[in-house]
Amino acid sequence: MSRTWIDVAYLAAAILLIIGIKRLSHPRTARSGNWIAAVGMAIAVGFTFAIEELDSYWLILAGIAVGTVVGVVTARMVQMTAIPQMVALFNGVGGGAAALIAAAEFHRLAPHDGRLDSDELVGILFSAVVGSVSFWGSLVAFGKLQEVLPGRPIVFPAQNAINALLGMGLVALVALTATTENGIWLALLMVGALALGFLFVLPIGGADMPVVISLLNAFTGLAAAATGFVLDNTALIIGGTLVGASGTLLTILMGRGMGRPLRQTLFGAFGGAPESGGAVAAVGGDGTARTATPDDIAFMLAYARRVVFVPGYGLAVAQAQHDVRNLGDLLEERGVDVRYAIHPVAGRMPGHMNVLLAEANVPYDELFEMEEINPEFPQTDVVVVVGANDVVNPAARSQPGNPIYGMPILDVDRAQNVVVIKRSLSPGFAGVDNPLFYDPKTVMLFDDAKAALEKLVGSLKAV
Ligand code: TAP
Repeated sequence: MSRTWIDVAYLAAAILLIIGIKRLSHPRTARSGNWIAAVGMAIAVGFTFAIEELDSYWLILAGIAVGTVVGVVTARMVQMTAIPQMVALFNGVGGGAAALIAAAEFHRLAPHDGRLDSDELVGILFSAVVGSVSFWGSLVAFGKLQEVLPGRPIVFPAQNAINALLGMGLVALVALTATTENGIWLALLMVGALALGFLFVLPIGGADMPVVISLLNAFTGLAAAATGFVLDNTALIIGGTLVGASGTLLTILMGRGMGRPLRQTLFGAFGGAPESGGAVAAVGGDGTARTATPDDIAFMLAYARRVVFVPGYGLAVAQAQHDVRNLGDLLEERGVDVRYAIHPVAGRMPGHMNVLLAEANVPYDELFEMEEINPEFPQTDVVVVVGANDVVNPAARSQPGNPIYGMPILDVDRAQNVVVIKRSLSPGFAGVDNPLFYDPKTVMLFDDAKAALEKLVGSLKAV
């Protein structure tokens, strides 16, 4: 087939990928967006087989078969809470593939051509370095999230000096590879880049890994785009650039949602999992947290005009999405105006709460973004916070110096009454006290989110 037709097909694939990504930005359209992008990818892969110079068909088909089986099986088996690890692993494999292709092309071209042309050389060096950093960095991120490695930031003396030396060594190896075109230098360069990926992610706390994975995802995209230049493949250039751009934007948006500049996430050694069971000192109100029984709370909910549910990480841990929906449905049957407030970084991955609530078929028009719902809290009779902590912590507004100061939050403390469902007074991801728990208009229901919601449903039926 002529190269023009293949390029037309690649263009169609790129358009489908862009439409797919656009549709992923809303839960209502996300499912079809995923399909559209998959069709785009199938077109790109299918038309690649029509390239005349291509050989080793069986090897490529075997690779596709193995990848398909592994992809389908893992995607079906993985728990929702383990998706960040899965993304890290798949992303690392992508970065590693880009680096290996760069090495293979170097091996193929360098001895024959004598001198590689500068486009090829830049592409090869870029994808070899960035792909290797992404590969090993993603594996460390996976290890931290899977608790194979300690989740806390791992710091050691002279860390920055070692990283700086390593960086300078890589620059020297880039120069040596480019001038000598000797494969030994490229191999050393890739080993150095792997070490950099390892050392770069090691000092970052496990809970910050989703941001790091998003950044490494952008790296992998750029490495793939560079590989596209080396292979002269338009689909790879466009696809890689899309991943690079969307990964970068997602990283920035996550940082903004957490109220923390990226620099602080990458170099601040914050985000280690809080020590377990660390009950916090009482702050705010009269210094004591009030508790209530499921019956008391059910009574309060039954006679409310508007109830807003605020899901957080604990809802995901307890897998209580269907229970919160049941409670919401019961309240709606009684004529209560029910809404769900979504903080952009509630949970541990982008869109975590949207995915959970969509799984429980919560109607999309009942989901409200932070900016939409915040002005509504003063007119809300009861807010039910289910397993959320940092995203409703008023210290983010009022306590300069607090690690989460400046993070945009859901202003639930401005509602008439607040119910907080969690197991203890332990802090959340950021490891800081939450004055909301001691606010006179807050009552705590100490229980696992699923168990608590089931009890509330039972009590409400009896009201
Ligand atoms: P967190 O602040 O982490 O609080 C979650 C709370 O859930 C904990 O305080 C915990 O308290 C409770 N919990 C855990 N298991 C529970 C269970 N089975 N039943 C009931 N409660 C349970 O969560 P959040 O408010 O969703 O905030 C998210 C945090 O993660 C933010 O600090 C954000 O910056 C950070 N983060 C988010 C992302 C993304 S993209 N979403 C990425 C990285 C970091 P108990 O132990 O007392 O039950």
